[in-house]
Order: sequence, then C-alpha cells, then structure tokens
Amino acid sequence: MQRKTYALIDGDQICKNVKNIIKNYPDYRYYFGVVKNNSYHHGIKTVIDMERGGINYFAVSSLEEALETRKYTKKPILCLEVIPIEFIDDVINNDITITIDSLNYVKELINGDIYDKLKVHLAIDSGMRRLGFWESKSLKEAYLLLKDEKNIIIEGVYSHFATSGVMDPYYEKQVEVFLDITKSIPLKSIPIVHMGRSLSLVNHPKLSFCNGVRLGIVMYGFSQSREVDNSLKGKIRGMKMRQLQKKYGIKDVTLQNDLDVLPAMKLYTSVMSERKVSAGDVVGYCTKKVEEDGYILTLPIGYADGVDVRFKNVSINGKLYPILADCMDMLMVFTKDYIEVGTEVEVFGDNISIKDVCRNLKINAYHLFQMISSRILKVHVSKGEKEEIRY
Ligand SMILES: Cc1ncc(COP(=O)(O)O)c(C=O)c1O
Repeated sequence: MQRKTYALIDGDQICKNVKNIIKNYPDYRYYFGVVKNNSYHHGIKTVIDMERGGINYFAVSSLEEALETRKYTKKPILCLEVIPIEFIDDVINNDITITIDSLNYVKELINGDIYDKLKVHLAIDSGMRRLGFWESKSLKEAYLLLKDEKNIIIEGVYSHFATSGVMDPYYEKQVEVFLDITKSIPLKSIPIVHMGRSLSLVNHPKLSFCNGVRLGIVMYGFSQSREVDNSLKGKIRGMKMRQLQKKYGIKDVTLQNDLDVLPAMKLYTSVMSERKVSAGDVVGYCTKKVEEDGYILTLPIGYADGVDVRFKNVSINGKLYPILADCMDMLMVFTKDYIEVGTEVEVFGDNISIKDVCRNLKINAYHLFQMISSRILKVHVSKGEKEEIRY
C-alpha cells in the first residue's frame, strides 16, 4: 500500500451482525443480503461473510453487480432492477433471478427464447411509485402468461417500503395496498413473499404472509434503534413518537430494539507531511486562518475520496484534532502537539463514530457509505485473513 489511506472492512463483524439479526428475528425462511453498490461500499467480498452468518439469498441492482456477486457465492441472486430482455441469456447462464415489473415486459419475455429455467419475482408497487405492478388486473394477466411458460418459475412476489412507518401512516397503507393488488393471484402458492427491509424488520412485527426479508443497512451495523430510554432525551423522544403513533393510528411499533450489531467499516489515513505554522498563517486555498502557533499535518485523503472539512475532526492516538482545510486529494489538520510523519490517523472508527460523522454532515449512514470513494483501498479482514482489495 503506497498511499496510506484505507477502509478496514471487518468481515467477521458483518458475519456476527447477520447471525444476531437471524437470532433475534428467526421466523423467516429467506434472508436476502442486499449487496447493491459493492455491498454499500464495503466491497462485494463481504458476500462470503454474510453467507457464513446465514444469508441464503442475495439482492443486487444490476446484471453487472449480479455477475460480480456470482464470483463469491453459489446462493441465488435477485436483481432488483429490470434487466433489458437482450441480456436474458447472461441471466440464465449465471442463474440470476429477475424482477418482473410490468405486463409489457412479460409479453416481451415470453416472445423470446427462454431456453432454460428462469426464476422470476413479481414486483408490486405498493406506494413507492418506483417499480412494479400497481393494478390487480395486469398482475393477474402477467401471472397467467408466466404460469404457462415451461421454463419460467414464478418464485417470488415482493414490494418495498417507502418509509419506516414509525412516524407516518405509510407502512400500514403499503401493506394494505400490497394485499389488495395481489388478491388476483394465489399468493399462498408462491414460494417466496418479501416486503420488509432493515427498518421494517426492526420496527414492526412480522407480516404473516411474508417468509422473506431483505437486509441492508442493518447487516452493515445500523439497527436504527431510537434510544427511548430513561434519559431525559430518550423520554422526550419516546413521548414525541407515541404522540405521532396515536395521531396516525399506528399499531405495534418497536421504538427501541436490542439488536446487537456494530459498524464493520473504519476509515484510516496517515500523516504524509508536517510543518510548523504561526498564528495568522493561512491554510489551504486560503480558506482558514491559524489562530495559534502549532503544526499542520497533511493527510493523503480529500474530497475526491469523500472526506472534507465537514467531517470536522480526525483522531490521532485517541485525541481529536480539527480539520482546517480540504483539497481534492489532501486534508490539513491543526495540532498543538508535534506528531511524526507516518503516524496513523482515524477518520472514523473507534474514536469517531459513523454516527458522529453523519451528525456533522447532516446525512444518514446510507449516504456516508456511498460518499466513501472507490479510490480508497479496502482491507478486508475475515477469519484471520487480510486482503487488500481495490474496487
Ligand atoms: C428493493 C430494496 N430492498 C431492500 C433494500 C435494503 O434497504 P435497507 O438498507 O433499508 O435494509 C433496498 C435498499 O436500497 C432496496 O432498494
């Protein structure tokens, strides 16, 4: 590693997270590991850790992602976006499950040559207005056409929740709409029915007609527990949430869960250069004045890597130091202490949590992970083995 900047990906923690999720929510038959966008930027190799933890189906965005995922697992892979018909041969050759989104797509599909078994999941638009059937009638027509095809296996039906449904009425509304649209097909005879994602899993009781759940952010260490504990802040939060629950008539919501999951990504860099500065000196692109005498440490990480001044601090030997300026590839940090070139610097990890960074940036963990650029080397650690990977 020449540029001493890397994301440490703890595969064993991901495996542990998955085991804990399944232990706490054991009543599903299918646990989908959502590994879109390179496993939420943790690297697709984490598929191996998820499988060790008990994931028995994977979900990706595109055929390209499905083919990358296939390198690491023999488990089934569902593509959540619609794959253009001209790529169906690649789908069949690599045993990828496709999403069916409309009657037109079904007609195109059955006009083609489906020369071998093809598993399909029917997507239902229960309220997100993104993908899927929104009418019972066209769903029934599609179902009947597919059922008559000897190589097509209608393996699943699914939908996606737009919100957590904890502070709004949309969760229950979407469940109602899903059941209404699917009443035209024999839902009970379809092997896999899945609606939930991380938030719905931890906030709501299991839906009796679902035997699958899609796990995303929770596998990567975020259980969305809301800390409605006995602290003043917790009590106020709990009160507000219960008021909203009452307002929207929401039943059976879990505000605080005890799921024991931890983040699996830590981000490190190192001191590349160090110089003395005096009060009044200007740093970077003349963005910030130094207020007292000290040192500027230059780090090989910048906004092209997804890290900028809004991160506010870095941690060195357990102590926080302010980021004064950012450039495309470098950050400048102020210290009163002399710190040697080569010293390791934590951007987030044990001393600065991902939650702290998200708070500073006013974003959530989903967005933070996507900000961390693929230029950053990943060091994947799993079962005592360490591998440097570039994706
Ligand atoms: C269709 C679908 N299912 C599941 C997920 C996983 O969501 P989460 O990370 O909230 O569990 C996503 C994420 O984008 C998704 O698009």
